[in-house]
Amino acid sequence: MPLKLIESTMINNVISPEYDEDGRVLRRVRSFVRRQGRLTSRQQQALDNMWPKMGLDYQPELSDMEAIFGREAPVVLEIGFGMGASLVTMASQNPEKNFFGIEVHVPGVGACLASAEEENLSNLRVMCHDAIEVLNNMIPNQSLDMVQLFFPDPWHKVRHNKRRIVQPEFAQLIRNKLKTGGAFHMATDWQPYAEHMLEVMSEAKGYSNLSENDDYVPRPDSRPVTKFEMRGQRLGHGVWDLIFERVE
Ligand SMILES: C[S@@+](CC[C@H](N)C(=O)[O-])C[C@H]1O[C@@H](n2cnc3c(N)ncnc32)[C@H](O)[C@@H]1O
Repeated sequence: MPLKLIESTMINNVISPEYDEDGRVLRRVRSFVRRQGRLTSRQQQALDNMWPKMGLDYQPELSDMEAIFGREAPVVLEIGFGMGASLVTMASQNPEKNFFGIEVHVPGVGACLASAEEENLSNLRVMCHDAIEVLNNMIPNQSLDMVQLFFPDPWHKVRHNKRRIVQPEFAQLIRNKLKTGGAFHMATDWQPYAEHMLEVMSEAKGYSNLSENDDYVPRPDSRPVTKFEMRGQRLGHGVWDLIFERVE
């Protein structure tokens, strides 16, 4: 598929139109706002070369993880991977696992594919669509070993808090997709969001907090430190990691 077409398809399709019974367009609260953003030539080239190999188009039907990756292996899903820094590092460090990334920002998808090409990865697949729709319609229940949500948009203003992706319904959506014994790993540098995540997840049915004190865990070595986080560390900002296991 020519690149321009790939790009416009992805931009136009990051959300699917939804209608009420009277055919009126439903406006669901989403965890992102759509940004256009220019593609660098590196991102554009990567979309051209790598989308046919690693990109998956959205379709509202269940997919088969084994068929997508061409092998059976533990699956790690990362939601909102940004430019893909942590996702590509983890995929490169864990060739025995399958990594699946979802991001709505097209330049981020391009950047991720460019890094994946440089690392010569074969265990990564990406989608450019609202992760909520992908989870609801494409990912089979009990199919994921790990779900990662690193530095999700904090939506600082109180009137925007409803846009935060971590909500009770989201916690149950993730739980259904995890295998029993699988884990949901979140990280944020915004303390009020960390507290919100802790409250939502502590009240969510079917999970156990892996923190010794029933709050946060030290950053596991599995989560690479990104440039963004290193800058925060230099400025003295905190980061909170939470890991909850699906127990039932
Ligand atoms: C603050 S950025 C963090 C990016 C990256 N995880 C990092 O640590 O640098 C949050 C990202 O989540 C993406 N995002 C937000 N809601 C999403 C959704 N429902 N589906 C897919 N991506 C989403 C945004 O486009 C954005 O790139």
